[in-house]
Amino acid sequence: MPDSINQFIRPVTCCVNDNGNLEIGGCDLVELAKQYGTPLYVIDEQTLRGVCCDYKRAFVSYPKVNMMYASKALCTMATTAIISSEGFGFDVVSAGEMYTVYKTGVDMSKVLFNGNNKSVDELLLALDLGVGRISVDNFLELSLLNELAKSRNKTADILLRITPGIECHTHEYIQTGHLDSKFGFDLTQIDEAVEFILESNLKLHGLHAHIGSQIFETKVYEDEVDILVKELARLQKKYSLKLDEINIGGGIGVKYTEADMPPSVYTAADLILKSLQTSIAKYGIEEPSVFLEPGRSIISTSGVTLYTIGSSKQVPNGKKYVAVDGGMSDNARPSMYRAEYTAVVANKPEEKSSQSVTIAGRFCESGDILIQNINLPEPEEGDILCVFNTGAYNYSMASNYNRVEKPAMVLVNNSQSDIIVCRETLDDLIGHDVIPDRLRTDV
Ligand code: LLP
Repeated sequence: MPDSINQFIRPVTCCVNDNGNLEIGGCDLVELAKQYGTPLYVIDEQTLRGVCCDYKRAFVSYPKVNMMYASKALCTMATTAIISSEGFGFDVVSAGEMYTVYKTGVDMSKVLFNGNNKSVDELLLALDLGVGRISVDNFLELSLLNELAKSRNKTADILLRITPGIECHTHEYIQTGHLDSKFGFDLTQIDEAVEFILESNLKLHGLHAHIGSQIFETKVYEDEVDILVKELARLQKKYSLKLDEINIGGGIGVKYTEADMPPSVYTAADLILKSLQTSIAKYGIEEPSVFLEPGRSIISTSGVTLYTIGSSKQVPNGKKYVAVDGGMSDNARPSMYRAEYTAVVANKPEEKSSQSVTIAGRFCESGDILIQNINLPEPEEGDILCVFNTGAYNYSMASNYNRVEKPAMVLVNNSQSDIIVCRETLDDLIGHDVIPDRLRTDV
């Protein structure tokens, strides 16, 4: 039995109801598809709150732990409100994410601004909105932020993003802590950065790292914590600085398919806290505040996507393609990272699988395949396909490829469903287009 929700493929409220349909949050998925149309993102509030509780319980023995949800996984005002009400802060990486959490009413002192190439406008917005920490990534940003802080007569509260030189086993595009990475200062550059900071309008609080995403082997956190604590201790001594924060980033994996074995949040927390105590003793510093930035493992399991099945094609002596009304524009992960997903037919969840099929998207690209080889009961036009674990990096990476509207998103809880993101309309799609007058005459 899994002991934390990131180890589930399906939302915790997912079951078959009296109509024989799949339901989540007490809402019949076939009814949701009818009411709101498809493709439809569905977020289960109970699962989301449950994951937040897992994290809080897992780290309860170390009161100086602060959870900062990584907004990049999914950033909407409603999910931000839920996660904020669970006591989390937010990691943001753009003016858009910063503005979303600000407009939701989040206490901006609990926000951390990350990114390897922040713009002047974004840095100014962060200073003006009173963002709690800016994680400075490189020398250009140090001097830029210093000038901007001076111009605003402010001191900017910062962390230094460092590259600890740790490789983790995940897709190379989502590895970030290895030496050959575009993110952060490498260990040999830290002193120069600190010496700059000492003469500036910047106040350094500590160090930040992130080693990758969809991590299954928690051992890498041991090495990461050790490097962060070691560097913190070294800088404290060398520069007589009071540095008391380390941010270990996010990365804990989730279970997309039966083959995935993500660690329990409790096991990961245990290991992180043990290595923290070991490193604190080894390097002789006081207990620092520890910040975590989980994204995927917070939001992924609570999300599913509903599609309507359309045409099917049997290739002679080959695959059977079953097409749905969405695909790579609402879920880019299979085509970008060969990510795998599981799904069931929501209107016949208990029917035996009769064959292995390939779920194809609707986009004009051969690579637009959502799921390769999945066993499903005979798929019929109009069936509702429910793809699990789509809460993270689906809507947040969605595009308008082929000028297709982005889907709506509903929040379900206690048999109630509420729209939290409206479906885009055709007018939304052309809303930013401009035809110059000189072309109008020819139209
Ligand atoms: N903190 C920093 C500095 C990060 O760069 C990231 C993710 C996180 C936290 C959150 O990591 P998580 O807990 O979600 O693993 N689009 C890719 C994932 C990219 C992750 C980038 N950074 C995907 O769909 O798999």
